[in-house]
Amino acid sequence: MLWSLPLLWACFAPATLTALASPGKPLSRRWADVAEVHSWNEIPRGWKVLSSAPPDYPLNMRIGLKQYGMDELIENLLEISDPTHPRYTQHLTKEEANAFKAPHKDASQAVDEWLAFHDINLSSADRTPSGDWISITIPVSQAEALLNTEYHLYEHLSSGEQVIRTLRYSLPRELHAHVDVVAPTTYFGTLKSMKATSFLLPNVDPVSVGDYVAQAASEKHSAGAASENNPGAVLPSCNNTITPACLRALYKTYDYTPASTDKNALGVVGYLNEFANKMDHQMFFKTFRADVPATNAAGFETVLVNGGQDDQSKPGVEANLDIQYTTGISYPTPNTYYSVGGSPPFQPDSFTTKNTNEPYLDFIEFIYKQDKIPQTLSTSYGDDEQTVPRDYAERVCKEFAAIGSRGVSIFFSSGDSGVGGGACTTNDGTNRTTFQPSFPASCPYVTTVGATVHINPEVAIPFSGGGFSNYFAAPAYQGDAVSNYLWDYGTRNKGMFNRSGRAYPDVSAQGVAYQVVVRGMVTPVGGTSASTPTVASIFALLNDHRISQNKAPLGFINPLLYSTLSSGFTDITQGSNPGCGTDGFSAARGWDPVTGLGTPDFQKLLKLIEGL
Ligand SMILES: *[C@@H]1O[C@H](CO)[C@@H](O)[C@H](O)[C@H]1NC(C)=O
Ligand SMILES: *[C@@H]1O[C@H](CO)[C@@H](O)[C@H](O)[C@H]1NC(C)=O
Ligand SMILES: *[C@@H]1O[C@H](CO)[C@@H](O)[C@H](O)[C@H]1NC(C)=O
Ligand SMILES: *[C@@H]1O[C@H](CO)[C@@H](O)[C@H](O)[C@H]1NC(C)=O
Repeated sequence: MLWSLPLLWACFAPATLTALASPGKPLSRRWADVAEVHSWNEIPRGWKVLSSAPPDYPLNMRIGLKQYGMDELIENLLEISDPTHPRYTQHLTKEEANAFKAPHKDASQAVDEWLAFHDINLSSADRTPSGDWISITIPVSQAEALLNTEYHLYEHLSSGEQVIRTLRYSLPRELHAHVDVVAPTTYFGTLKSMKATSFLLPNVDPVSVGDYVAQAASEKHSAGAASENNPGAVLPSCNNTITPACLRALYKTYDYTPASTDKNALGVVGYLNEFANKMDHQMFFKTFRADVPATNAAGFETVLVNGGQDDQSKPGVEANLDIQYTTGISYPTPNTYYSVGGSPPFQPDSFTTKNTNEPYLDFIEFIYKQDKIPQTLSTSYGDDEQTVPRDYAERVCKEFAAIGSRGVSIFFSSGDSGVGGGACTTNDGTNRTTFQPSFPASCPYVTTVGATVHINPEVAIPFSGGGFSNYFAAPAYQGDAVSNYLWDYGTRNKGMFNRSGRAYPDVSAQGVAYQVVVRGMVTPVGGTSASTPTVASIFALLNDHRISQNKAPLGFINPLLYSTLSSGFTDITQGSNPGCGTDGFSAARGWDPVTGLGTPDFQKLLKLIEGL
């Protein structure tokens, strides 16, 4: 049991973590003994090298110092998210979490001495409040000296995006105990190569809003008809066409009235220059939430993060989908759209520092500084796990744990390629074929959402991303659920996936034919990108209820999902997620790596959280 409050480690920790340089050893020798931190065997697929990087080009480098109390932060997180623990939902304050995140003073000191040795002006370094990230702007040549590497200019083949990265980097041996990750280095998953997990449905043309309403009315399937007459009825049209009325009836949120809209909030995180359009949003409410008086449909707020933009002449499909469905389900809960990063990373003729396009780090740094974070966050992006350097993925995952410890429920989509798209070969030099888990879906401190289709019964959709991490071990909270599944799965696809890894998705929701307004047209969109905002909204409503009873928000929900709440989901038992030339996994009774625990039943969930 862990009752200790976070402490400032620097005050009492032993003086040395690792041997300091022996006295009298020349400084240059202290820093010359280097060892590799991370390297790739090949240029990441989808990229080509263009040239050496210009030596004077300014790089905004981030150094992630080891967070000395992180293990203890995670122990705290697991206690406060365990419904049987006396500390359940006693979330950490920003100051408490910051104290856990702080590096050991030896780490800060060693890194400062190393930077000073390389003539880096320490007073120009930007540090997070806990000192766990140091940010410096230095020319490429200096970064090369620091990291014993060479930077090159790379181009992304399909998008033409150019970035400065390296295939390997090293640090002085002494610093390996003190530093988790340095960026930008070997993570190529920059904005355009991250996948938005939505897609337009082929062979279905968008229709004008007016035509859509007329057509829906004539079929008596319109959202208005549903909500006026019998909002609880799941209309037959929901089998092939998803609207907020379908989701509110199917997942049973239709008669819940949010009561904590002054305190509770929901955030959608967007990347890739995806802009959430206000006019489309208004039209969406007029069409699909006709029950909300126009004057009340206040919409949402857009917050720009680290160079993110908001071009209202360029509505994004992903952005519109996400925000229309979070507001469509959680209204009148305040919703915020975070537009992260977005300016081109490399401009050879401009020597002003650009944002580094390290999208997760940009967002994490921003959100962590906020005194108030929306209690629910929804993100519909990801990468193949193997394309994210392990050190980088591990650090980002810990940052999500830290955000969760402050009482935030974090949702990510599970990906749109089943167990893996394409050739599914490993990038470790061996070209073995294996399933391709995705990240951040594979991080055990986020809640990962897969996709279903149809009603009566709802079944798994083949693209629903699911599987087992190669980076993160299976967390205790899902141990039984996963081992039950694997027992029945037997030796199918043996060697194609890591049976001891964190398994996902955790839950699922409808993911096909969402009616989204884009540029004034009703456009059908699918993907786990659609499922994720739906589940996030339902948990935002559960948080609303908790808060209305003066209780803390649910925070990190996974341990709760696999225990108290497991009976609050409709189990999905049909369908599978093939890929990599295999039949993938099958949906089954109980948890499965296609649809997780199933799709939410808000009324059951509401009853179950009543007892907490
Ligand atoms: C170091 O950086 C600080 C803050 O940016 C600046 O005021 C100072 O002039 C710099 N010193 C040198 C020697 O460049
Ligand atoms: C839903 O649609 C699918 C595919 O078109 C069809 O097989 C199924 O019978 C439909 N279910 C209902 C309840 O209409
Ligand atoms: C692995 O595949 C890559 C990309 O298809 C290819 O360039 C490389 O030569 C292959 N390596 C081996 C060892 O087969
Ligand atoms: C399988 O997962 C475990 C636990 O995360 C990990 O330590 C191991 O390296 C993984 N194996 C492979 C082959 O990736």
